[in-house]
Amino acid sequence: MAIDQDKLTDFLHRFVGDLGATMAAGNVLVGDRLGFYRALAGQPMLPRELAERTGTATRYVDEWLRGQAAGGYVEYDPQTTTYSLTPEQAFALTDPDGAVFAPGAFELALGALRSEDKVTEAFRTGAGVGWHEHDDEVFSGCERFFRPGYAANLVANWLPALDGVEAKLRSGARVADIGCGHGASTALMARAYPNSSFTGSDYHEESIIQARKRIAEAGLGGQVTFEVASAQTFAGGPYDLVTSFDCLHDMGNPVGAARHIREMLAPDGTWMVVEPYAGDSVTDNLNPVGRVYYAFSTFLCVPNALSQDGGYSLGAQAGEEPIRRLAADAGYTRFRRVAETPFNIVYQARP
Ligand SMILES: C[S@@+](CC[C@H](N)C(=O)[O-])C[C@H]1O[C@@H](n2cnc3c(N)ncnc32)[C@H](O)[C@@H]1O
Repeated sequence: MAIDQDKLTDFLHRFVGDLGATMAAGNVLVGDRLGFYRALAGQPMLPRELAERTGTATRYVDEWLRGQAAGGYVEYDPQTTTYSLTPEQAFALTDPDGAVFAPGAFELALGALRSEDKVTEAFRTGAGVGWHEHDDEVFSGCERFFRPGYAANLVANWLPALDGVEAKLRSGARVADIGCGHGASTALMARAYPNSSFTGSDYHEESIIQARKRIAEAGLGGQVTFEVASAQTFAGGPYDLVTSFDCLHDMGNPVGAARHIREMLAPDGTWMVVEPYAGDSVTDNLNPVGRVYYAFSTFLCVPNALSQDGGYSLGAQAGEEPIRRLAADAGYTRFRRVAETPFNIVYQARP
């Protein structure tokens, strides 16, 4: 087979970039955990100064900084031999409450990669790998990956886009947040709507333990309760609003969940479905965001769905049509796409 040298060079460039990014992922977490980004955001520093400021060893810090500069995550000034962050790098690397938080995404990725052997074996057997079987970093990384997008959009844009829901939340509504993980979305809603009450649920007990801790620390315990329950069995209706954040596509029986949600809704209630951003076809998703989601989906979403009863596995790039069909199959009469961001699409389904 003849090799086209230009095409090979293009591919090698891509591969070297990916290899560097793969190794750099661990370095981003090191920088986050040791406070390097936060220290550098304040002022340019020599490696020795950064090491002193963070109580770390200079030789390691020196090597870390060089790699970060090569990857464009920090800036290097050859005149002063100092390293610094641009405002944009600081924005994406230092603020867990900002609109983008890159270290959280890398934590999720590294946590997921720890299951590489289990996932490889699952390809052979076709068996599932449950969410609960992954490394703890998957759970905390998931929270840190998704929370910034929710913080930026949930209260400001997504809830106001639903029919009449915001007014109900202001005056006092009953809300169920299913598949809530560590409860980041539950806490954001509870803080914004003090007259409403919230029940978060997830089948994963360890996540619910963390969610309870976080809500108590936030002083929102009076408004929020959590239960260990699947989306197909959670209790306590009728609810004015049921929310599912980035979890419907993870379920083995999403139609069963949709039916149960409908039964738990008040007659005038609303199900807000937040799902990963996706186009309508595979071709539409062959882009950087699609690549991120397909890769996570292969390690986390599809294996989890296959570990549960139901025989469904939507995957993280299902797109609008399968969700619309699923809502219709579960008996919802009204379905509308209400909002989107580069990472999420928000749908409203009503009985
Ligand atoms: C990608 S995480 C999203 C967590 C959280 N909603 C968030 O946005 O941070 C998917 C969550 O769905 C939960 N999950 C998966 N299958 C479930 C099911 N059948 N019933 C309830 N929760 C489920 C997992 O335990 C996990 O917490």
